[in-house]
Amino acid sequence: IVVDPFDYVVFGGTGDLARRKLFPALYHRDFDNQLPETARIIGVARRDETTESYRADVEDAIRASLPEGDIDGEALGRFLSRVVYVRADGTRDDGWDELSRVLDERRECIRVFYLATASNLFGPICHRIKNHDLITDKTRLVLEKPIGHDLESSRAINEAVGQDFPEDRIYRIDHYLGKETVQNLMALRFANVLFEPLWNAAHIDHVQITVAETLGLAERAKYYDQAGALRDMVQNHMLQMLCLVAMEPPTCIWADAVRDEKLKVLRALKPIAGRAASNVTVRGQYRAGAADGHAVPGYQQELGPGAPTSQAETFVALKLEIDNWRWAGTPFYLRTGKRLPSRVSEIVVTFRPIPHSIFSRDAGPVVPNRLVIRLQPDEGIKLWLMIKDRGPGGMRLRNVPLDMTFREAFGQRNPDAYERLLLDVVRGNQTLFMRRDEVEAAWRWIDPILEAWDANKEGVKPYTAGSWGPSASIALIERDGRTWYEEDS
Ligand code: BG6
Repeated sequence: IVVDPFDYVVFGGTGDLARRKLFPALYHRDFDNQLPETARIIGVARRDETTESYRADVEDAIRASLPEGDIDGEALGRFLSRVVYVRADGTRDDGWDELSRVLDERRECIRVFYLATASNLFGPICHRIKNHDLITDKTRLVLEKPIGHDLESSRAINEAVGQDFPEDRIYRIDHYLGKETVQNLMALRFANVLFEPLWNAAHIDHVQITVAETLGLAERAKYYDQAGALRDMVQNHMLQMLCLVAMEPPTCIWADAVRDEKLKVLRALKPIAGRAASNVTVRGQYRAGAADGHAVPGYQQELGPGAPTSQAETFVALKLEIDNWRWAGTPFYLRTGKRLPSRVSEIVVTFRPIPHSIFSRDAGPVVPNRLVIRLQPDEGIKLWLMIKDRGPGGMRLRNVPLDMTFREAFGQRNPDAYERLLLDVVRGNQTLFMRRDEVEAAWRWIDPILEAWDANKEGVKPYTAGSWGPSASIALIERDGRTWYEEDS
């Protein structure tokens, strides 16, 4: 469905996110004929570029980010003709008159300001947008994560932005919410009758959420070294997924109905603080090792010679509890890291053991059921069940999955999360975006962990690139008589 005409203004238009994610996503939507003929994409950055040189740069970025088969010369040409470059500085007035001129050519269409910059620039950029009279009735603002580096800074940023934009115009993006499988969590839970009656501590033993990456630091050292994995992944993506797994059924799919329920989960998270943090959190940093079959340097080496010793964690594992009626007694184990053995993100729900077995020992163990929601790669849903093995040899039990992959079910390319989210902004649908109180509630839970790490002075634990993180992560879950899920376990 084609959306209404729009101007998409991307601040940080020469940055990593715009190049790797935003332009390829918009190109795909254009290729699928979902952009109106007059849609424009306006890149804004400080670099000295012309629209012509910028288009060449955007073309390179799209070609580098997408498989060759996804590139269609004609569609790419059409997409590039929509791209305009304006050189402007978020923190000074340079270039803003030009931006006003370009935008005022079409004051009547939907206008989106996407701030793909560091979050300390959000306030200053919004003030300039306002002062240059660029906010129309149809203007929306998109903010990239992470918003701030703790509760206080995130409040200050939200406060500054809120002076110029009301909450119903602000789209705080968490691209995990745009992933097809993450959205499918809602369909799975609330469009089927099977799961909801069992979706509580009485029937679920524990939940695991893993986001593993093989990538290292890539080119984001400056940002990442300040942030670390807890701020980069847990505060946002992982807690958002946790919310979708754990929330009560919202009354409808509308933005605030869903966000109210997610907020309740965040508020019910049992605090992790002080010395107790050492028992339930593990943080690690990769040393030299191997990734994707190649030798790779350690994190500290990647920072370059002479860089001060970094305590940034590239791996986090933690055990958390939700203090509410539904989940009391069911722990959630989260882990995420860079330079792990494979790129895999999944949510694993392990049900409780059967109360009594009617089978003899010879039948083999009755393994508790598991529901595995695979976010990437090979998006799909797997439900592990016990069945009888084939053949006349008596009752022998086997653990076998009911296995649905999106590729087989739908046979189409799975759209990237940004494709959905970028156009949801144009459509004015905030359901898959974070509200201010959610972001702040997440920080309120994260801050004491960061403080405990500082106070406990334990330092990050080393792990070899290409391994599953420090051994303490395995101990964290095995202490409770459980194990991290591995495919086909
Ligand atoms: C980003 C983080 O938000 O998500 C990155 O800043 C991380 O560090 C990325 O690599 C992971 O996203 P995806 O979609 O590749 O799983």
